[in-house]
Amino acid sequence: MAQTVNVVVLGAGVSGLTTAYELSKNKQYSITVIAKHMPGDYDIEYASPWAGANYLPVHGKDTEGAQFEKDTWPALERLARHVPGAGVHFQDAVLYNRDKDANSSTGLWFKELLSKNPWYKDVVPNFRTYGSEELPDGVDNAQVFTSVCINTAIYLPWLVSQGLQNGNVYRRGIVHHINDAADLHHSGKKASVVINCTGLGALKLGGVEDTKMYPARGQIVVVRNDPKVMMSISGTDDGGDELVYMMHRAAGGGCVLGGCYQKHNWESQADPNLATRIMKRCVELCPDLTGGKGIEALSVIRHAVGLRPVRDGGIRVAKEKVGDLWVVHNYGHGGGGYQCSYGCTKAAVQLVEEAVQKGASRARL
Ligand SMILES: Cc1cc2nc3c(=O)[nH]c(=O)nc-3n(C[C@H](O)[C@H](O)[C@H](O)COP(=O)(O)OP(=O)(O)OC[C@H]3O[C@@H](n4cnc5c(N)ncnc54)[C@H](O)[C@@H]3O)c2cc1C
Ligand SMILES: *[C@@H]1O[C@H](CO)[C@@H](O)[C@H](O)[C@H]1NC(C)=O
Ligand SMILES: *[C@@H]1O[C@H](CO)[C@@H](O)[C@H](O)[C@H]1NC(C)=O
Repeated sequence: MAQTVNVVVLGAGVSGLTTAYELSKNKQYSITVIAKHMPGDYDIEYASPWAGANYLPVHGKDTEGAQFEKDTWPALERLARHVPGAGVHFQDAVLYNRDKDANSSTGLWFKELLSKNPWYKDVVPNFRTYGSEELPDGVDNAQVFTSVCINTAIYLPWLVSQGLQNGNVYRRGIVHHINDAADLHHSGKKASVVINCTGLGALKLGGVEDTKMYPARGQIVVVRNDPKVMMSISGTDDGGDELVYMMHRAAGGGCVLGGCYQKHNWESQADPNLATRIMKRCVELCPDLTGGKGIEALSVIRHAVGLRPVRDGGIRVAKEKVGDLWVVHNYGHGGGGYQCSYGCTKAAVQLVEEAVQKGASRARL
């Protein structure tokens, strides 16, 4: 007789959905995903829909975060190459560094990404540094490689569909305390493992209240124009927490222009002055964005704001026993929830397996 382990995944952002999908490949798990927000929602408490999203590794060499990024690339590359329905395509990423941004909030975040000899050069295809004669004015070093851009409006529902095919159940729910999540398994029986993928919600969730969590606000402008390349630079002259980047999503998803990285700022409404600066800076960095016709030729789809769920000390993938319940944490992904998704999930699935071996109870079917 088959034995099952009942699992509740709390959260339906890219972290929860990837974890639920990867776990569903193992038939011993019976999985319910519970979340306040689901794909299709656009809400300031739900980071995943707002992301570009592309793959630009930012974690320092030999850190746990770098391992997560390294383990994620092959999965995203496979989707771009072989699974057109996922809404992921290849795009070249051109990256500029200005030495003067070294100590700004954006310069520090992009330190490894823009370093001359980053660890990820052996992971991504077609990595190349620019020769000094190729550098635009004011740029101290530059590189290009083949990355991916994910259309989140296709990719998040695709992750749900993959889980549905494998028998997962997806339900709405607001959980006020971690212990309550275990009672929400669709079988009506108590779950023996709860996976905590609540993003910024981990700050306020009862029994969790991880005060290391804070938002890094990102404002974006989504446009119809196609720059034919993704571009980023280490900083701007408009303040140390403002950014310039653009990425064109697969399958009609529009082009995301950014941005900023405003720590501890919870404001959900777009600032029109910042929006103007974002558009101006993007057209300056890449005049091809509007075919040389300036910012008036941008065709705006929407202005938007998302909050990156950052955690002091980095992403938390860990397991913990709470009474007779195993809790596996997978949150605090900051600005890299997509580019770390498969790496973090691999680590989280491993922890679930360990919990099961340590006796997380199996219910007879
Ligand atoms: C402007 C912007 C650009 C970005 N660009 C990129 C990029 O290019 N590449 C990249 O890798 N990343 C990017 N990111 C970061 C990425 O979006 C996040 O790291 C990622 O979305 C975090 O996903 P998550 O699943 O951990 O959290 P979320 O997507 O926030 O999901 C949290 C889930 O938990 C649920 N939840 C929370 N609390 C409770 C509760 N108490 N009860 C029930 N449900 C609860 C929510 O409803 C939701 O379903 C960007 C972010 C922003 C804002
Ligand atoms: C950044 O900070 C380091 C260490 O404090 C210092 O040596 C360096 O000169 C600073 N760089 C810039 C560009 O401000
Ligand atoms: C989520 O993470 C926090 C942070 O440590 C933890 O204390 C809490 O128990 C977790 N909540 C759930 C529902 O897993």
